[in-house]
Amino acid sequence: MALSIFKCIYCNKEYDIQEIRYRCECGDLLEVIHDLSQSIPNPNDWKKSLDGQMADIAFRRYQAVLFPSLPEDKLITLFEGDTPLYDVTHSIPRFKSIKLKHEGLNPTLSFKDRGMVAGVSWANHLGCENVICASTGDTSAAMAAYAAAAPNMKGIVLLPKGKISPEQLAQSISFGALTIGIETDFDGCMNLVQELTQKHKIYLLNSMNPVRIEGQKAIGIETLHQLNWQVPDWFVIPVGNAGNISALGKGLRELYELGIIDKLPRLAGIQTEGASPLFESFKNGYTKLVPQKAKPTKASAIQIGDPVSYKKAIRELKHFDGVVEAVSEKELMDWKAQIDRLGISICPNSSVAVAGAMKLNRDGVIKENEDVVVILTAHGSKFSNTSVEYHKNSVNQFANQTHTIPPNLKNLESVLNL
Ligand code: F0G
Repeated sequence: MALSIFKCIYCNKEYDIQEIRYRCECGDLLEVIHDLSQSIPNPNDWKKSLDGQMADIAFRRYQAVLFPSLPEDKLITLFEGDTPLYDVTHSIPRFKSIKLKHEGLNPTLSFKDRGMVAGVSWANHLGCENVICASTGDTSAAMAAYAAAAPNMKGIVLLPKGKISPEQLAQSISFGALTIGIETDFDGCMNLVQELTQKHKIYLLNSMNPVRIEGQKAIGIETLHQLNWQVPDWFVIPVGNAGNISALGKGLRELYELGIIDKLPRLAGIQTEGASPLFESFKNGYTKLVPQKAKPTKASAIQIGDPVSYKKAIRELKHFDGVVEAVSEKELMDWKAQIDRLGISICPNSSVAVAGAMKLNRDGVIKENEDVVVILTAHGSKFSNTSVEYHKNSVNQFANQTHTIPPNLKNLESVLNL
């Protein structure tokens, strides 16, 4: 077999990896399959060699399993990865351990950089001068930044008008992408971008492009490396278009097949109550996906009613004995505030996963004697309006000067009760 191929997840038809193709002839999704026995002939030697490579960037460190076919000189990196894994068990004593993998500490402040290092590098290898994505604001920021870092690449971004945060919007504009607001929701933008890329030679960089998924596998792999390859009982992750949970599952599966880890964790995918097509499907035994008109939510990055990677996601959920849950706006905002209070700034999409872990714990699904890793997907600073709104009383008091004092020591001492 070639080192890497595209393979249909439904009919197993294979395609050359060098081809620009997002779907099988039968219409279903493709995934990348590597012949890992070629890139990793001896898994134990590879595992040992990783220790000496900790200083290298994450993508290169794990490239043999992420995307071995990418030529070294085509790599476009902004030094993504090596994000912290915070142990917050002391503050949330509900589990044997709970750790937060903060993907919001990547260069564009979201996990999307992990997929874009692969996607944009591959576009660079293919010689694509124009790249495009539809986005709820984070894919667009990452694609715009990596396209800007590439030698000869123009980014084009389609955003649902009025549905992304000002910080996210400023990112794609300031990184120089052609940024277009479309009068629809994310699902509408996604349909449009698929139509466009079928007709014109513009390279699609949504996670529907299977190369993106390969880069995102690094999140789970790096987490396990940080845990010295000790597998937790659960990975909990927010779900929108369902690319990230698919990538997490695929990466963990490959590590297991290589014998680098000796057990599989369970997966929990979490959505909001107003945008929960995967949750509804889970409840009906994954018999079908009923696309929804996703309702507005503070977790605007996952306001998605028709997830493109649905089939890949349910395959991983079944393989990992997974569960899906949905949380309310109050639950997600209250948990955002609690994690922020630990000094860990998280976005409302990430707190969906935290709130989901707590709900699953309350319902007895995730037990007190289990080890849990929650994937935080973006930084709080990308969604500062949600923090300002949540803390609006204190913020208003400050703004209205009811909480401010004249600049003298006596006043300050009296406020501090000294
Ligand atoms: N969290 C954040 C912060 C996101 O931006 C996204 C998706 C997700 C979670 C869900 O990941 O789609 O792979 O299930 N954002 C995409 C975007 C849709 O365009 O930025 P998913």
